[in-house]
Amino acid sequence: MRKIDLNIGKGYPIYIGKDLLKNANKYFNLNRKVLVVTDDNIPSNYSDTVCHNSKEAIKAVIPNGEESKSMSTLEMLLYKMQENKFTRGDCVVALGGGVVGDLSGFCASVYMRGVDFYNIPTTLLSMVDSSVGGKTAVNFAGLKNTVGTFYQPKGVLCDISTLKTLPERQLNCGFAEIIKMSMTNDSDLFTLIENKSKKELLDDIENVIFRSVIIKKSVVEEDEKELGLRRVLNFGHTVGHAIEQTSNYYHGECVALGMLPMCGKAVKDRLIPVLKKISLPFEYKNVSGDLSDLIIHDKKSAGDKIHIILCPEIGCFEDKLVDIKEIEALIKECIEK
Ligand code: GLY
Repeated sequence: MRKIDLNIGKGYPIYIGKDLLKNANKYFNLNRKVLVVTDDNIPSNYSDTVCHNSKEAIKAVIPNGEESKSMSTLEMLLYKMQENKFTRGDCVVALGGGVVGDLSGFCASVYMRGVDFYNIPTTLLSMVDSSVGGKTAVNFAGLKNTVGTFYQPKGVLCDISTLKTLPERQLNCGFAEIIKMSMTNDSDLFTLIENKSKKELLDDIENVIFRSVIIKKSVVEEDEKELGLRRVLNFGHTVGHAIEQTSNYYHGECVALGMLPMCGKAVKDRLIPVLKKISLPFEYKNVSGDLSDLIIHDKKSAGDKIHIILCPEIGCFEDKLVDIKEIEALIKECIEK
């Protein structure tokens, strides 16, 4: 088992290891009322285990998928807490992927002006990215993540045993975010990913997650509120989010495609074999529709200009403010390849 201390506010521990769930109360203070939020795709024995570790657990099972990241699901959770007389001394535990984590974190941050929040991510993507750094949100009026808070959890528990039940495509999506962080911030990690087979990477997953979380820690500790450096985590996301809205690709798959236009030729030549090995998309043949409008409406735009993160060399990045024409030209190059 490995532990990383994230130093924002009072700080919190992130535990990464095998079979941690069964001792959840060793890592978190569950000796109180606990709202355990999970979704209907997560094996119910995981949430049962957390409930058994809690003094008084109330379980909320939401439908799997982005649709649940809504005001109405939030309201349902808040009702549950109020009905069950949760006080400021009680807590919320998220058990699932990014949707469950973002929604539950937001719920914890607003119930009685904030109760303790713990995150138990069960997808590779949420272990390396969304569970760390305190972003919480629901979608609102058709736009992603427009209502939310920065609210750090009290602790994060990454039990890698839960990855055994994760569908392959979801696992690949987690790898997309790991590749993303290594490309901009850790060339050694990228080389490690490059040199190992997918099976070897999975055998070494505790270390791979650990190294990815170390990158995320270094970024969010320096820029919690995404005023500058944290934008690097959006590498691949500007174009990726637009593809996500016009295709059936999953989030991580869109990030994989979204990184390609942002890379120089030498970088692309190293990235493509890695994407192929992980079974992530690496060409634009199934991407259709006009991405420009969707990119312009992305919340990360600044006036007429949009921040993009470029990767000129593995392990480095450039944050550039560009107009949409420049992004269109970069995408065109990928489509024509
Ligand atoms: N997932 C991007 C961030 O945490 O900023």
